[in-house]
Amino acid sequence: MIGVDVPQQDGCWPSALSGQRLNGRWVLGLEEAGLESFSTPTAVHAVGELIATAMTASVVVGLPIGEKFRPVRITLGRMSRPAGHVLSWAARAVAPSARVVSATGMRAGGNPWLLRLADAGGTCEVVLKTGDVTARQDRRQLVTTVAALELAAGHAVPAPRLIAADLDGSAAGTIAVLMTMLPGSSTIPRFSSAARLRALGAAAGALQGVALAPRPGLEVRTRALYDMDFAQWRRSAGTSQLLARAEERTAGRPVPDGEPVLVHGDLWQGNTIWSGESCSGIIDWDAAGAGSPGIDLGTLRLDVALFFGSSALESSQDSSGPGSPAADEVLAGWQQAAGRQAEHVAYWDVAAALCTVGDMACCLPGDLVGELGRPDLNAAILTARRDAFLAAALDRLDS
Ligand SMILES: Nc1ncnc2c1ncn2[C@@H]1O[C@H](COP(=O)(O)OP(=O)(O)O)[C@@H](O)[C@H]1O
Ligand SMILES: [Mg+2]
Repeated sequence: MIGVDVPQQDGCWPSALSGQRLNGRWVLGLEEAGLESFSTPTAVHAVGELIATAMTASVVVGLPIGEKFRPVRITLGRMSRPAGHVLSWAARAVAPSARVVSATGMRAGGNPWLLRLADAGGTCEVVLKTGDVTARQDRRQLVTTVAALELAAGHAVPAPRLIAADLDGSAAGTIAVLMTMLPGSSTIPRFSSAARLRALGAAAGALQGVALAPRPGLEVRTRALYDMDFAQWRRSAGTSQLLARAEERTAGRPVPDGEPVLVHGDLWQGNTIWSGESCSGIIDWDAAGAGSPGIDLGTLRLDVALFFGSSALESSQDSSGPGSPAADEVLAGWQQAAGRQAEHVAYWDVAAALCTVGDMACCLPGDLVGELGRPDLNAAILTARRDAFLAAALDRLDS
């Protein structure tokens, strides 16, 4: 496993990383030719040496190649606040007379940013996502975000509305996307009602109605998080017999075909915003594309199995009486919204589980105790739940 140790800067080291945080992992830009990015778990061990300067820092880490560690330099930049140029651009995009009153980091004190804007007419809140114009992955992600938000706006897909985008940095000084702020929170509750799980499934079900021929920015996707190499990650971080069996069972098996639709590509609960029991919309579209709706359905079913387990929902949480396992409530909500049966559910459940590595500690979607507010969960519980979900899906695969 790769380890990166970055001493705290201003008491909050994650905000100092120039990398992107993707589904709970830091994806850092590497200078090494041929290695554009590498994912690290959030809980990491020190193997590096930090060379800090006033504004930027670089860290040399060891990448495990076979038995040997190879040093790779990662460049970090301080990002305690977006530059003035991009803030003025954002304000102008909202109203000529608007000014930014505050910029608050929404992910570990950094990007994306919640901007509060004011002008004579009052105040408003918008969300700013920025990227590094020199990083291909950042450029790709923002291009995809814009394409997906534009498409969502033209259909009944609940998502933020695009306000402005600068995809080459010429107007904002950096590549940037500005969008509306959805009301509510992405916090995952300790318990979920069946109604909330069905609403989650329905949100995913809305995407399956958007037929989409692949196009630039929204290319063909055959699984979630298309730009992360999970098989490679399992080779370095460790796999399990069950995951290896799942790889064998799906190797050489064609991806179920069908008319491609809009796929979110990272559809877990942390990318949904809730106002009470009502889902305001889906955010974080940087892995979107065109593919099977099963990609998102499987990802969401695995996600609720991780957060709520695979036994039937407790009746005390839901006035409708004892329910089904959380993943099946998501399926029911999806099917109701789609007006049809979902296909190849077992295949897409397996595909979702193959977007993990042996030890779920490496895949935690953020800090469980602080950020996610779920101290009741830990890596062992999540690993056991992932295994139960995957084993059940493998049992159903050819039946
Ligand atoms: N448009 C939005 N409306 C409301 N909250 C948002 C919006 N965009 C981001 N957030 C909040 O910021 C957090 C991080 O944003 P996200 O786009 O998911 O970034 P990341 O790629 O780091 O996961 C989200 O979990 C959510 O709480
Ligand atoms: Mg997110």
